Amino acid sequence: LDNGLLQTPPMGWLAWERFRCNINCEEDPKNCISEHLFMEMADRLAKDGWRDLGYVYLNIDDCWIGGRDTEGRLVPDSKRFPHGIAFLADYAHSLGLKLGIYADMGNLTCMGYPGTTLNKVKQDAQTFAEWKVDMLKLDGCFSTQEDRAKGYPMMASALNATGRPIAFSCSWPAYEGGLPPKVNYTLLANICNLWRNYDDIQDSWQDVLSILDWFVRHQDVLQPVAGPGHWNDPDMLIIGNFGLSFEQARAQMALWTVLAAPLFMSTDLRTISAQNVEILQNPLMIKINQDPLGIQGRRILKEKSHIEVFMRPLSEEASALVFLSRRTDMPYRYSSSLGRLKFPSSRLYEAQDVFSGEIITDLNTKTNFTVIINPSGVVMWYLYPIQTLKLSKWKS
Ligand code: DGJ
Repeated sequence: LDNGLLQTPPMGWLAWERFRCNINCEEDPKNCISEHLFMEMADRLAKDGWRDLGYVYLNIDDCWIGGRDTEGRLVPDSKRFPHGIAFLADYAHSLGLKLGIYADMGNLTCMGYPGTTLNKVKQDAQTFAEWKVDMLKLDGCFSTQEDRAKGYPMMASALNATGRPIAFSCSWPAYEGGLPPKVNYTLLANICNLWRNYDDIQDSWQDVLSILDWFVRHQDVLQPVAGPGHWNDPDMLIIGNFGLSFEQARAQMALWTVLAAPLFMSTDLRTISAQNVEILQNPLMIKINQDPLGIQGRRILKEKSHIEVFMRPLSEEASALVFLSRRTDMPYRYSSSLGRLKFPSSRLYEAQDVFSGEIITDLNTKTNFTVIINPSGVVMWYLYPIQTLKLSKWKS
């Protein structure tokens, strides 16, 4: 969507995967969906270094709505959001953050709260703009295919008509199976800044892999449609929760980064471990995710040894390489060469290991290198040419 927003994938925090539809504020006041939770996460984003690295979106998901007022305007649950959404937006803005909100293009949200039916689209867009919201995730439960075909483009124009820049996240393709001909990615790229293509992530490595596998299986369709202002969204980062080991957390981060995915953390930033903070705050990782060219990466090789190699082209002729091990035995010594990975032979390269910082220098396309990849882990390289081998030029 050409609204000037999200020229690089959005980064921030999204409530859903970790906090779901917990509305039990009586027994669980610290973790229920309430303004208290969002204010605490806002404080953490601002004070613990997240915001300054680019994690600026603080996004509300389902279960915030209380109903509609006499004029039909959406209102938040008055017990859980006593000060209203405009207050929360102000609070986020005062900390240098942006606020995202959630609605559903159907009769009800997935959890059964009032939806944004076609006749409500304009009014709800207006309400969000008045509240000074910065992003909208529009879900698709309890809608028909026809409603969605009308409603998503209608919401795009309604948001545009408010005059407020509001990033637009569409769940539309996820409700149509994610693939052409049912999904028209050219149209989506015109009306949405990002879109969920596939199933919801849950708190497990198996879910990370099943999403990854679907994205890889359909990479010929999905890879070309991503770019500045319009991104595929393989769903939230679950790093910091309960389902991933240390290696798997690094792997999700690396893989989402080569996929040019939005980096929406969904974890408790009040209690996250230093180890997970380090994964999520890795500056070179973030630089790669936020590369200005905005080219989505692809899986370029699948070895019989259950090692897979992913590559994302970056600006300044650099690229990111991720070596993923799907093995379950022991650290694997994977030997390869840049020639095998189809890098042009006219160059001499250097790589920096994104996690350890180690430099591997003087790589030509014939140099054999070995990376040691832990089970369900990754090695990630930032690779850049250090010299052009102008062999033919010397002749003339
Ligand atoms: C389905 C979406 O895909 C999830 O990300 C989340 O928003 C839930 N609905 C909320 O009900």
